[in-house]
Amino acid sequence: MEQVEDKSKNVLPQVVRLNRFIAMAGIASRRKAEELILNGEVTVNKKVVTDLSTKVSPSTDRVAINDKVISIEESLVYVVLNKPKDFITTAKDEKNRRTVYDLVQTRERIFPVGRLDRNTTGVLLFTNDGELAHRLMHPSHEIEKSYHVSLETSVEQQDIEKIKKGVHLEDGKTSPTRVQLVPGTKSRDLVLIMHEGRNRQVRRMFESLGYEVKRLDRIQYAGLTAEGLGRGRWRYLSNAEVRMLKKYAGLKEK
Ligand code: URA
Repeated sequence: MEQVEDKSKNVLPQVVRLNRFIAMAGIASRRKAEELILNGEVTVNKKVVTDLSTKVSPSTDRVAINDKVISIEESLVYVVLNKPKDFITTAKDEKNRRTVYDLVQTRERIFPVGRLDRNTTGVLLFTNDGELAHRLMHPSHEIEKSYHVSLETSVEQQDIEKIKKGVHLEDGKTSPTRVQLVPGTKSRDLVLIMHEGRNRQVRRMFESLGYEVKRLDRIQYAGLTAEGLGRGRWRYLSNAEVRMLKKYAGLKEK
């Protein structure tokens, strides 16, 4: 029986029909792939294969089309969304609220790297590259994130100092945070540059000091910004951006 592909864990299927493998690599539809196979254009481990029922192992077999080796690694995708308010970071919501999947649609099943609260806006990365996602989310990699925070009231200098040094929350003291006041906002807007990503962390940091967060916008994640993307719009990352992310997460190019 054919194995079910499970990209959520980035596990490649153990065996897959050859035409499906070619389709997964993004080369052609399954039907067109069959034509390529019947035309003798496809080799498996350097031998021409014309039998449509051939199965291959994506991790060990070498599949080539007209001598060019193909791989389903090529179908890993990386997307950045400029998330608007009122969308939740989940695949399915039991209350039928709008989700980020109403905004981002790709052929591949992709997953958000971390979460943004329903009312937080800004940079949200998606991928089916489980290895990279795992590394970016792991606290040990201390990925940098920047937030533009708008408060209901002006922030006191002494509270800025507390945020910088770390505040006590129920899940422990926060790590040192860089804080910049946004000029011309009567000390209501700040930019926080931090390396942690606990649940609702920024909101809870300000709530613990008696402030209400009016707006929260993530303006940078691991060096990525939403520059040039309207709210609710997404785009694929460039190869250079993917390379940068992998480097950031301590992964070598394959
Ligand atoms: N901190 C928060 O409080 N909310 C977010 O969505 C992200 C960071």
